[in-house]
Amino acid sequence: MPRSLSFDAGSASPGRRQRQGSPAPLAQRIKRAKTAHFDSDDEAEAKARASSSVVKGANGKVTGKVTPAVKLARKQEAERLLEGRKRLPVYEVRDEITKMVADNDTVIIIADTGSGKTTQIPNALMRSSTPCEAPRVVVTQPRRVAALSLAARVAAEVGCGVGGLVGYTIRFDDKSSKATRLKFATDGALLAEMLADRDLDRYDIVVLDEAHERSLRTDMLMGFLKDIQKRRREKYELWEKEVKGKGKEKGSDARDPSPLKIVVMSATIDAKRFSDFFNAAPVVYVKGRQFDVEVLYAEEAQADYQEAALKTIFQIHMKRPPGDVLVFLPGQDDIESLTASITTYMKDLATTYPSRGSLLICPLYAKLAPSEQAKAFAPAPPNTRKIILATNVAETSVTIPGIKYVVDSGMAKEKQYHAAVGIDSLVTESISQSSAMQRTGRAGREASGICFRLYTEKDFLELEKTTKPEIQRVSLTFAILHLLAAGQEDVWKFDFMDRPSKESITAALLTLHGLTAIDAKGRITSFGRQMASLPLEPVFARVLLSSFAEGCPSDIIDLLSLLGSRDNLLVNTVATRDAANLARKKFVHRTGDHMMLLNILKAFEDVEKDERKTWCKDNFVNLKAMNQVLQARVQLRERCERLKLDWEVSAGDDAEPVLNSLVSGLFANTALLQPDGSYRHTTSRRLINVHPGSTMHNKKVPAILYDELVLTTKTYARGVSSITPNSIRTKAPSVFGN
Ligand code: CDP
Ligand code: MG
Repeated sequence: MPRSLSFDAGSASPGRRQRQGSPAPLAQRIKRAKTAHFDSDDEAEAKARASSSVVKGANGKVTGKVTPAVKLARKQEAERLLEGRKRLPVYEVRDEITKMVADNDTVIIIADTGSGKTTQIPNALMRSSTPCEAPRVVVTQPRRVAALSLAARVAAEVGCGVGGLVGYTIRFDDKSSKATRLKFATDGALLAEMLADRDLDRYDIVVLDEAHERSLRTDMLMGFLKDIQKRRREKYELWEKEVKGKGKEKGSDARDPSPLKIVVMSATIDAKRFSDFFNAAPVVYVKGRQFDVEVLYAEEAQADYQEAALKTIFQIHMKRPPGDVLVFLPGQDDIESLTASITTYMKDLATTYPSRGSLLICPLYAKLAPSEQAKAFAPAPPNTRKIILATNVAETSVTIPGIKYVVDSGMAKEKQYHAAVGIDSLVTESISQSSAMQRTGRAGREASGICFRLYTEKDFLELEKTTKPEIQRVSLTFAILHLLAAGQEDVWKFDFMDRPSKESITAALLTLHGLTAIDAKGRITSFGRQMASLPLEPVFARVLLSSFAEGCPSDIIDLLSLLGSRDNLLVNTVATRDAANLARKKFVHRTGDHMMLLNILKAFEDVEKDERKTWCKDNFVNLKAMNQVLQARVQLRERCERLKLDWEVSAGDDAEPVLNSLVSGLFANTALLQPDGSYRHTTSRRLINVHPGSTMHNKKVPAILYDELVLTTKTYARGVSSITPNSIRTKAPSVFGN
């Protein structure tokens, strides 16, 4: 059993008990999913796909006819769910909310997580006749998984299949049809729709959900929507004056113009900023049901939050009454290693204290497969305590029933821009006070609970009050390219709710110029437009577009698909490291990690389908991730076809074209060998270490390129290849001169 940890009830309130009766004040939090190279969630083709009338089932297969038996089962399920819905605080006030939306162009709604905002409000709006009969509603989500699972939930509540009345659109996946009147979309997917439908004419109501997260893309949408609302109002008034009542042209099924309604939903009570931004829009506060949560602080500062979490989990299990535990950790790696340590101690527990019941560990993070995530939401078997090890996805975006204890590490992974090296990186950071309070609140959803903070009260009081909006923390290359592609000619005049710094806008413009996405006058080039229409971060879009000239688009599509799943592509545990390295030795390429990834994919494809599982096991490769790679590849190939680009050209075994394509997009991710054997970043001269997991670790070559930097105590380059110093100059002439 791990040694126990001392907690202190804190002095924040009388009776050494801190009430958590209402949502956190002034809370603004940012919770980001892990960085992925396919982060942009670009959905340029959504329009084409959305107009398809094929109804697809939840598994993505075309379902064809819905049988009466299916209809009946859906109806019964909807009736069953209605009972629970009626108990939600938002359900009771849904008519007041629709009336408020009918009377105002923009409405802000504040209610605690789990009150029913996301599932009930869009549904009620769809049934209203605001701002027209049968309104079409789109609801944005910062996370793909949320969009997907919410569409499924609301479809079940409505009693239809996903892709019918209720659907979703996320990057690489669209389940919506002509019949869809309530659509969940990632904020990125809605932004992408704007490239083809500038005024979002096909929606009557846009609901910006999870607005408190202040994700980069939600903030961009807010700026755009304010303008769109104005234009839609003008269009509507003109139509009302000149056309309305005169009858439609025969055969026209075009929808009449309508004014656009905007609903902003947030789980924290900092409504003023939203209201101010949207011209003093009214705010609706829905009082949630929140039970008291006792807050306990660590008596002394903890050097290792993982170990502190481990001790606390067992302390709870040994000494506290039944109830599930939700543990907040920064990232997937922490979750995996804590799972391993708990499992070790659990065996011990079963023999020493058989009567104590067992523990069920459920991981929960954005990249986890939906079927695995479902485990966290299902009730635990009898005599078992569920331990949910989660990242900050569990802070506001999902509600897990049965949580009585929260263990808060006080840390989260957060995207940050590092101007010196010009990249975004995920760093483990202390959370803000409002974030800590949201985490605490998760313990009081159904009954009173306890929150164990693995830090001292003094440390809590020193935390930032709120988290900075993402737009002020990350690289704006994507954002600025998108503004330009969406027709915003002067990016300096864009109406940002929180303005990013002058330096970061300038840096983005310089990068875009280096990528030839904009010309010297700051105007978007046709190349830039193509980049904006690809579901890739601009630098990777540039890599892909360059590969056509280099004669290796097929290889680059493979590589970008591989990089999208890289985090879980190779099985690397401490126990299997040596065996894995030995098995994978045959894939190693002299130029480094990128060609090695391509070698792995080639070998995988050479294996018969029914033998791939064994092959993956033998080579310590993750089959699921490999299948995701194949899926992503299909999508990227389709995108190229839509741009009329012939992607089928491959450079075969020649690495040079592949590396050249990489340099043309990732020229800023390069470093040169120094006389002392170290690598220094090409422009900033910062010291760059090759990550120990890279095949280029300990190798000395004149220049390297990397696709990711990990910043811990050192600056580590991951995904490293050897390149020629000359290629940096020739492939990025606008940056390094001729
Ligand atoms: O958006 P908000 O956090 O206010 O709540 P919601 O997502 O609308 O969820 C309301 C309730 O519906 C939750 O408390 C859950 O009990 C339930 N729900 C569910 O069971 N499964 C889902 N996928 C979503 C919601
Ligand atoms: Mg919600």
